[in-house]
Amino acid sequence: MFYLKYRPRTIDEIDNTRVRSILQKILESKKIPHALLFVGQKGTGKTSAARIFSKAINCLNNKFGGKGKDFEPCNDCANCRAIARSTFTDVLELDAASNRGIEEVKSLIREVAFLPMSGRFRVFIIDEAHMITPDGFNALLKTLEEPPDSAVFILATTNLEKLPTTIVSRCVKVNFGKGRIDDINNMLKRIIKAEGLVFAPEVLHLVAQRSDYSFRDAAKMIEEIATQKMKTLPDVEVFLGLKGRSDILEIIAEKNSKKTFQWIEEFRGSGGDFKNLLEDMLDKLRLQLLIKKGIAVEETEKLNMTAAEISKLIKLLMEAYQLMRVTPIDSLPLEIAVSEFYNVT
Ligand SMILES: Nc1ncnc2c1ncn2[C@@H]1O[C@H](COP(=O)(O)OP(=O)(O)OP(=O)(O)O)[C@@H](O)[C@H]1O
Ligand SMILES: [Mg+2]
Ligand SMILES: [Zn+2]
Repeated sequence: MFYLKYRPRTIDEIDNTRVRSILQKILESKKIPHALLFVGQKGTGKTSAARIFSKAINCLNNKFGGKGKDFEPCNDCANCRAIARSTFTDVLELDAASNRGIEEVKSLIREVAFLPMSGRFRVFIIDEAHMITPDGFNALLKTLEEPPDSAVFILATTNLEKLPTTIVSRCVKVNFGKGRIDDINNMLKRIIKAEGLVFAPEVLHLVAQRSDYSFRDAAKMIEEIATQKMKTLPDVEVFLGLKGRSDILEIIAEKNSKKTFQWIEEFRGSGGDFKNLLEDMLDKLRLQLLIKKGIAVEETEKLNMTAAEISKLIKLLMEAYQLMRVTPIDSLPLEIAVSEFYNVT
């Protein structure tokens, strides 16, 4: 899978420019903080960066190892290799999503007392740190107050607000935020180049825009597009559920039930994404509503519906959107919404 195959392995490969330069500065300062906190949305590289950082400070072939000219991990020495395989005794990872209790945290903390065996630092990566229980946080806090010189904690979380401020204030915070479109675009370029694929720049840009600001989602999306051998922008627009977004609303406005259901069936058959479709329909309807109320200027064609009909349809589509999470057939929520709409109008 692309997102695993192209997981960044060096600081330089972290496509998130801001994070890359912060991590570089920390490494160059040679004063490694005892606790780092990586905060950011899903799929922005927190876990990847934690592993790269552990390698960098324990690598035998870079400046930390007294060789080489920079702080990049070599990914080739015994330490780097062992860290990549998760068999390095001085890098301990705790996934707090599945090991959140006091016992798990305690057994990790017991390890803090030991000196590194093969590395320079013992690194304790706590992923999904917001899942730790209050007891666990208390135990951790004591350790963070007086960590041994050789210990480095890296906490990663998507939910900063769920961490006690006492913990947060003891960490150097690195904000991963959301993925920037340009950075995601660069990751996509890196992937397709390595895969020997060719895509129009507009295709990559569209994928980056539609990735929910997540590098992982973008990597998955481009892989699917590549697997399905889509090349052109129109193909990809269909795949992303962007095709004919005005058409479907116009057809619904015509109140032609048969035509509407045919359109949906074709959309499903062509592999369209209903979640994206609903988002776009809602966007468009909201704009139409604002036009009707005289708030927005008319820069798009007017839809042949009354304000009441538009509100009703918005409501039904929002219900359909919620149902997307549970439906076994992804066209079904839209089909129900449309059929209810026709019943009341
Ligand atoms: N900054 C980045 N540069 C390049 N690729 C990235 C970056 N961030 C994420 N990726 C891609 O997304 C995948 C997931 O990244 P990672 O697991 O590090 O994210 P995360 O922030 O820990 O996500 P989560 O919060 O869901 O655990 C990586 O394997 C990689 O393919
Ligand atoms: Mg992660
Ligand atoms: Zn190395």
